[in-house]
Amino acid sequence: MVKKAVIPAAGLGTRFLPVTKAEPKEMLPIVDTPTIQYVIEEAVSAGIEDILIIIGKGKRAIEDHFDRSFELENQLQEKGETQSLEQIQKIANMANIHYIRQKQLNGLGDAIYYARQHVDDEPFAVLLGDTVISSNSHPCIGQLMQLYDRFGASIVAVEQVPRQKISRYGIIKGKAIEPRLYLLEDLVEKPKPEESPSDLAIAGRYILTPDIFDCISRTPKGRGGEIQLTDAIRLMLKYHALYAFNFEGKRYDIGNKMDYLKTIVEFALKRDEFRVEFMEYLEEIIQQKEQKP
Ligand code: G1P
Repeated sequence: MVKKAVIPAAGLGTRFLPVTKAEPKEMLPIVDTPTIQYVIEEAVSAGIEDILIIIGKGKRAIEDHFDRSFELENQLQEKGETQSLEQIQKIANMANIHYIRQKQLNGLGDAIYYARQHVDDEPFAVLLGDTVISSNSHPCIGQLMQLYDRFGASIVAVEQVPRQKISRYGIIKGKAIEPRLYLLEDLVEKPKPEESPSDLAIAGRYILTPDIFDCISRTPKGRGGEIQLTDAIRLMLKYHALYAFNFEGKRYDIGNKMDYLKTIVEFALKRDEFRVEFMEYLEEIIQQKEQKP
């Protein structure tokens, strides 16, 4: 059974400068909630209570966000703003959150390696801190956890991406064995579209068995001169059957500006207090654009 989750959140966010110069990209707000809070809520709603966040230089704001803030709590209490008070207390009580610092940026594979002692000999979930996945049914990581219970094997979430986005992702080659489910045959990190084995991209959610750590330690530097998790999983393929699952839900990639903008608009439209007025505003903008010669 999967009981622990690891959230790598050490990257510099260079695709999102200048805001990420001093702000962690995982703290970028989707309306009023930092991205990483959604990620943790996904893990918690799948039944995970133990979360290890891999942080790095300049990521203090993440720790502060999930800590208690007595000053703020006192002030809200005095003002009688009980709703806001409950909201911020809930954030601090969401899960048992632990932190470890990646000392040198050396890729996603290297970041995951820092979790070795914490997860010990248990399977664990990995949720990338800059990817939000919403689902009408079961949280994405919960879907993978159910499959882990069935197969006892590592599994990666995948989704179809358009050809022009292939080189942004790890791409899998798999044999379809059930609707949405693939037996992994190969993985490649950020291939050129013409060399890609498929259009199924690794979507930032994984269940990994602890033997990944040995594989990471034997993985040479790959794309971008970094130790890639994709390459380490590829090495695991030599020893085990691994799976990929085209999850049910929608993925929001906060790591790039255009997808971030779209995410904010969609999340704002999901909120009762904004929907009507915000939609009217968007319609107004579209009309103005159409009227221009
Ligand atoms: C990472 C992984 C890649 C995966 C992607 C999903 O890349 O290396 O395999 O497809 O996350 O967001 P990054 O976005 O960190 O460059």
